[in-house]
Amino acid sequence: MSIDLAGLGLQSPIILAAGTAGYADEILDVAKPSTLGAVTSKSITAQPREGHPTWRLVPVRGAMLNAIGLANTGIERFAEHVAPTHRLNAHGVSLFASVAGDTIEGYVQVAAQLDGLESIDAVELNVSCPNVHGGADFGVDPPALAELVGHVRAALPSTRLIVKLPPVATGLVGIVQLARAAIEAQGKPDGPNLRPGADVLCLCNTMPAMAIDVKTGKPRISNGTGGLSGPAVHAIVVKIIHDVYTSIAREEGVPIIGLGGVTNWEDAAEFVLAGASAIGMGTATMADPTSPTRIHRGLLKWTERMGAIKLSELVGRVRLGV
Ligand SMILES: Cc1cc2nc3c(=O)[nH]c(=O)nc-3n(C[C@H](O)[C@H](O)[C@H](O)COP(=O)(O)O)c2cc1C
Repeated sequence: MSIDLAGLGLQSPIILAAGTAGYADEILDVAKPSTLGAVTSKSITAQPREGHPTWRLVPVRGAMLNAIGLANTGIERFAEHVAPTHRLNAHGVSLFASVAGDTIEGYVQVAAQLDGLESIDAVELNVSCPNVHGGADFGVDPPALAELVGHVRAALPSTRLIVKLPPVATGLVGIVQLARAAIEAQGKPDGPNLRPGADVLCLCNTMPAMAIDVKTGKPRISNGTGGLSGPAVHAIVVKIIHDVYTSIAREEGVPIIGLGGVTNWEDAAEFVLAGASAIGMGTATMADPTSPTRIHRGLLKWTERMGAIKLSELVGRVRLGV
């Protein structure tokens, strides 16, 4: 079940999602490491952040709603204490560092401190954060996204760059334009197999959502609105993966990590058929930390049943038409 993700070998296609698996090692106590390809850290910002007050995470029907507010230790602590001491590599599991910020300078500061850290195998950009240039998110503004990715790539010339997009974009901007902006950004890489823009796309982050307590009339989480994850978003993400894969990612050779609502191997297999090369998991692991192991094994059996030797042979193989 090993895969090649933009030149990075992973022992499993299963990748634990940012913000749902701690910073690095926390999952080792409960999941079988040999069935994990990578763990993505909580998103790291230039300064430590407390995040929003409680409640910041509530269950809703078929999903989970969260607005954690990017609570994290900040880059200094992550680079000095978490990255150098993590035990994932000893188990063959890669560590991806997720980066967040609200200005280009903030992202660049964190990325620059991560570049070249031996214990980090890739950096993932979480672009669903407020942008000081007019208050919009980078994730709804393709030119701003291309500028951000270009600057981050320049600060991160020798590390694999994953760009994680939000699932919906507003107005006339769609997911394919965002993917194109991330892929075609013009930074200057300095390493084998690295591209000027995104090496890998992660689709997707949570979906903007809201839940209201009808007894109090107040929103159920302190931030008012939050991000939806879990089974309810899965079918939406299948289409997003399919759209991005067929419109640009396949042609450009940029692999996709499919992320959103994967709860069983069939969900993961759907992502593969839609165009994903790897499978992210978040919410399901919070309910059952052994679910990545189950899904890794299910995918293995499915690959064999489909007559394929490698999972990669099945990527994008959805059969359209009647
Ligand atoms: C509690 C929680 C915290 C999260 N924190 C982050 C984060 O720090 N950075 C990020 O890029 N995504 C974050 N996410 C989004 C997940 O990485 C993932 O994109 C989303 O949950 C969809 O996948 P799932 O349905 O498998 O959970 C968070 C999600 C949850 C539920």
